[in-house]
Amino acid sequence: MGLLVRNGEIITADSRYRADIYVADETITRIGSDLDAPPGTEVVDAAGKYVFPGFIDPHVHIYLPFMATFAKDTHETASVAALMGGTTTYIEMCCPSRNDDALEGYQLWKAKAAAGSACDYTFHMSVTKFEENTAGELREIVADGIASFKIFLAYKNFFGVDDAEMYQTMMLAKTLGVIVTAHCENAELVGRLQQKLIAEGKTGAEWHEPSRPESVEAEGTNRFATFLDNTGASGYVVHLSCEPALRAATRAKERGTKLSIECVVPHLLLDKTYAERPGVEGMKHIMSPPLRKKSNQNVLWNAIATGAIDTVATDHCPFDTEQKLLGRDAFTQIPNGIPGIEERVNLLYTYGVKRCSLDIHRFVEAASTRAAKLFGLFPRKGTIAVGSDADLVIYDPEYRGVISARTQHVNNDYSGFEGMEIEGRPSVVTVRGKVQVRDGVFVGDRSRGKLLRREPTHF
Ligand code: URP
Ligand code: ZN
Ligand code: ZN
Repeated sequence: MGLLVRNGEIITADSRYRADIYVADETITRIGSDLDAPPGTEVVDAAGKYVFPGFIDPHVHIYLPFMATFAKDTHETASVAALMGGTTTYIEMCCPSRNDDALEGYQLWKAKAAAGSACDYTFHMSVTKFEENTAGELREIVADGIASFKIFLAYKNFFGVDDAEMYQTMMLAKTLGVIVTAHCENAELVGRLQQKLIAEGKTGAEWHEPSRPESVEAEGTNRFATFLDNTGASGYVVHLSCEPALRAATRAKERGTKLSIECVVPHLLLDKTYAERPGVEGMKHIMSPPLRKKSNQNVLWNAIATGAIDTVATDHCPFDTEQKLLGRDAFTQIPNGIPGIEERVNLLYTYGVKRCSLDIHRFVEAASTRAAKLFGLFPRKGTIAVGSDADLVIYDPEYRGVISARTQHVNNDYSGFEGMEIEGRPSVVTVRGKVQVRDGVFVGDRSRGKLLRREPTHF
């Protein structure tokens, strides 16, 4: 059965016009005025609504063994939450630890997602050590359709790689045309500062940020860029949080380093005072890099507006209250992560487009198109065009609501964004032509999602 989306205002990264969209066999086959609907066509009336390309979250954690526990979502809960918020594709960090085998890890993550995702997905493959068999295993994973690596310069002895391993990863990536994404913080300094603060009796959540100061992130960002310069690889800084790190990254871009920059919604809207709240309220707002002083937020928003920051992701990583309390005696034991997969698009639209004059095309680009281009999904994803997958977000700009854990679909007992107003939300969301969300209710198929095969493009 075909699908016709009628009377909407189509908005992509570079165009805005009124037209109907006809979908057959999962893809957009016609765009035009007053399209006719063959008998049996499902019709969605998008009058008064925007029609955006499905949004892409390029940085999420769903299955994640981390800090003595596991992130809370299943692929089913995370993907339903994603769709409710307009995200039709996510890129999950596949994160085996240093003690695990890369290929076994990849198979495990694949199996977890294959158990059921309501939206499409792919993985960034984390390289958490570089041993004799690593290159061979990574080649196999890339041949299976994974066109991006992830490295952590933080989390020493768990996910973290040293400089030699970063170099080897980049050299392989350059040969294979794969982009390297990186968490940029200096692991040694973080470890030393953590030890010092704990020894001084500074154990509360409010000490998490001082243990990972902005300079530590700037150093990691600069070192990552320097390694890109000297290997010729392409890179992508994940969850960049502050002005000094942004300066390091933009300096690199200006000198020609093949570097792209991601920021994440928590750093745009929450600041370090959230982590300074007493007791578990502070712990709920622990992530790395940490929530920063508020003055960074304007800097990040401006960089999104100019395109200096390429993408806006979430770093979705849900741990519940009980898990956060693992760190009640020492901030170093608080599981790091804040959920956000459901709220990203509405928050970016509300606090960017509606309240901060963020250009609506830049919004689409940062939340969808740019990630599709960087990670080998464009033009299948990230735009509205004949031949593209029919991932459509029919967006109601008149909706008014408030974020609350009581109404969220993520498998967690709190929301980091509790009480924040939103002005707009998806009213209908399709995944390859199938209506998955209607009027703010999930009505679809919980296992519709497919693993997306991606080819390397960064030669
Ligand atoms: O605190 C965070 N960001 N948790 C998830 C792991 C990571 O560093 O991305
Ligand atoms: Zn990270
Ligand atoms: Zn992450």
